Amino acid sequence: MANYPPEPFRIKMVEPIKMIDRETRENALKRAGYNVFGLRAEEVFIDLLTDSGTGAMSHHQWSAMIEGDESYAGANSYFRLAEAMDEITGFRFFVPTHQGRAAENILCAVMLGDGQYIPSNMHFDTTEGNIRARGGRPANLVIDDAFDPGNRHPFKGNMDIDKLRAFIAEVGAEKIPFGMITITNNAGGGQPVSMENLKAVAAVYAEHEIPFFIDACRYAENAYFIKLREPGYENKTTLEIAQETFALADGATMSAKKDAIVNIGGFLALNDEELFQKVKNELILREGFPTYGGLAGRDLDAIATGLREGLDEDYLAYRLGQTAYLGEKLIEIGVPIVEPPGGHAIYIDAGSLLPHIPPSEFPGQALSIQLYLKGGIRGVEMGSVAFAYPDPNTGEMIHPKMELIRLAIPRRVYTQAHMDFIIKTFEKIKENKDELRGYRITYAPELLRHFTAQFEPI
Ligand code: F0G
Repeated sequence: MANYPPEPFRIKMVEPIKMIDRETRENALKRAGYNVFGLRAEEVFIDLLTDSGTGAMSHHQWSAMIEGDESYAGANSYFRLAEAMDEITGFRFFVPTHQGRAAENILCAVMLGDGQYIPSNMHFDTTEGNIRARGGRPANLVIDDAFDPGNRHPFKGNMDIDKLRAFIAEVGAEKIPFGMITITNNAGGGQPVSMENLKAVAAVYAEHEIPFFIDACRYAENAYFIKLREPGYENKTTLEIAQETFALADGATMSAKKDAIVNIGGFLALNDEELFQKVKNELILREGFPTYGGLAGRDLDAIATGLREGLDEDYLAYRLGQTAYLGEKLIEIGVPIVEPPGGHAIYIDAGSLLPHIPPSEFPGQALSIQLYLKGGIRGVEMGSVAFAYPDPNTGEMIHPKMELIRLAIPRRVYTQAHMDFIIKTFEKIKENKDELRGYRITYAPELLRHFTAQFEPI
C-alpha cells in the first residue's frame, strides 16, 4: 500500500502530552525496574503499549453516551446495540460483556470440559488462559509463513487447513467442543485471514460438526484487508464482507475495545438457542443481567455507534495506511519488522536488529528501553521476556521463534507527525545500536512474567 490518506477527522478536543527530560526518563526507568509496564502514563510521550481501549471516540459516540439508558433491564441502549449487532453480525443472540476475556470465560464455562482441545490459527494470551483455566488445551495451527518475518504473504494469519485436518484426526472431533479463528491474528503480527481461508476453516469444522467461533476483535480491519487484497472483493463494502465473515460462523467473541473504538466493552454472540440459555445464566452469575452484561447503558450506546464507525472505509483506509506508513518507513531506514505491516501494530524484529544480544539477555527488552530513553515511546516486548519458559524435563530455557517488540497504534489518537517522530527515534537508536547491552532478570513471577518482572543492565 503506497497510499497514506490524511486523517479523515479534525481534532476538537485535545489531551496534552509532554516529553519529560532525559534524566527524569532515566530515573523513571530505574524506579520501574527497567520494565516499561511500571512507568506512569504521564512519563510516556507516545504510548504504543496497546490499541485496546485507547482509541479516541467520535463526537457521535460521546453524544450517544449522553442518551444512554441506565435501566437495569430492557434499556433502550441495549436495543440500539442489538440493532447494530443484527445488522453487522447477523447472529441470533448476543450478550454484552465488560471486555473480550469475559466473553471468552463465559464461552469456556458453558462449552469446554477438562482435557478437551480448542484449535485456532493463534489464540491470544487471554483466550489461551481461559481455555487452560478450564482444563482445556489450546492449539495454534497458523500457516508456517507466519513465522518468517520477511515473507510478504498477503494473508499471513490464515489457518493451515492440512494441519487442522490432521489435528482433528489425531485428537478426535468428539474432543473438540468448539473451534476458533482470530481475526486479525494479533499473536502473529496483526496479520489478516482471507475469506477463502475462513470458508475452508468453516467447512472443515462443519464437516466434523464442531461449532465455529470467531475471535472478532479486529474484524473490520480484517474485512478491509480482504477488500484490498482478495480478488473478487474489491467492489464489496466492508459491511458486506463483515456480514459474509460472520455468516460462516456459529458465534463470536469480541473485545469492543478494538474495532468498536470504545474504552471498555465486549460481547459474546451465537446462534444456538439452548446454548444461549446457559450463557445467560452464567452471565447473570458473573457479569450482570443479559441486557447490560457488566456495562453501563451509555457504554452500550458507544459500542453500537462505534461498531458502525469502525467499518467506515475512509477511516479504515487511513487506519491501515497509518500502520503501513510506520512499517514501510522503518523498513526503508533498515529496521527489520514482521512484513507486511499488520493492521493494528508494527512488530519490530529486535533479534535481527541487535544480533549481538543473545535471547537469554533479552534483545527486545534492550530495544524497548532504548525506545523509551531516546524518544519517550512505550512499546511492549514480545520475545523471551514474555514467552520463554523452562523445559519441564531438563529445566533448560526454551526461547520463542522471534524476539519482537510490538508498537500497537491506538485508533484516531496519534497523527502522521507522531509516526515521523517514532521513525526519527529509530534512526537515532540505529546510530549506536552495536553498543547496546542486554538485561538480566532480578525478579520474575512464575506466570505472565513480562507484566511485573524487574531487570538490571548487564
Ligand atoms: N482476543 C484478542 C485477539 C485480543 O487482542 C485481546 C486483547 C483479547 C482477545 C482480549 O480482550 O483485553 O478486552 O479482555 N488484546 C489487547 C492487546 C489486550 O493489547 O493486544 P480484552
